[in-house]
Amino acid sequence: MGKKKKLLRFADTKVFSNVTEPPMEEFFDREKGVPYKHALAGNWRSKVFKNDNPIVLELGCGKGEYSVGMGKAFPEKNFIGVDIKGNRIWYGAKEALDEELNNVHFLRTRIDFITAFFEEGEIDEIWITFPDPQEKENRARKRLTGKMFIDRYKQILKPHGVIHLKTDSAFLYEFTQEEIDEHGYTRLHSTPDLYGDNFDRFNEENQLTITNPNQPTQEILKIKTYYEELFTARGHLITYTQFIP
Ligand SMILES: C[S@@+](CC[C@H](N)C(=O)[O-])C[C@H]1O[C@@H](n2cnc3c(N)ncnc32)[C@H](O)[C@@H]1O
Repeated sequence: MGKKKKLLRFADTKVFSNVTEPPMEEFFDREKGVPYKHALAGNWRSKVFKNDNPIVLELGCGKGEYSVGMGKAFPEKNFIGVDIKGNRIWYGAKEALDEELNNVHFLRTRIDFITAFFEEGEIDEIWITFPDPQEKENRARKRLTGKMFIDRYKQILKPHGVIHLKTDSAFLYEFTQEEIDEHGYTRLHSTPDLYGDNFDRFNEENQLTITNPNQPTQEILKIKTYYEELFTARGHLITYTQFIP
């Protein structure tokens, strides 16, 4: 892939109406070294989506397959894909624009600053799709399902808001189970082999039931991201975890 094409994608995302790329000075006080609330915090529904629908985040979205896929399946929900890499976000943003998905938006920033962009309880649900497992001990603080990140998600999630994790990493899967147990989160689902024998327990169609409005269906769980395709081709099992922090 040429460097030129990558640069062109960077230029595109700057003018895409469905990508927000906030400069640091809009949410970070460099003198004090602390983040503060961005102007969009608390205003995504009124200013970006122009509706009162629930908001779902996809963290480390890469090309945004989940944001776009769920955006198509659930027009009555809003989706925001978050990633630091603009040239990856480009793919999802382009597809959402081409398909006129007004309920899909992308935020280019570090997830580390996520609390600067949303008010308390503004987010209904979070998906974390194939995050870097960060296996080395000196990278532990970068694991997106570690307590430090979960504490941030809790600040912006509505009460009982659900987190979904899809990963091929047995290490990150086990680490997340340990975090759930250690910190007393509520585990709703966990399987080390999502597409194995028990896949049938998930509904086939996108009919969310009243008793479990967060139960993803087979259609949603089968959305394949770029990294899922890559790891599946290498023979990795895909794991899935759903919990309330
Ligand atoms: C392995 S890729 C997975 C991408 C995509 N979800 C997929 O499944 O194809 C991990 C993504 O997380 C993003 N990422 C990792 N840590 C991040 C952070 N702290 N803030 C923002 N993005 C981050 C990377 O830029 C990368 O695009």
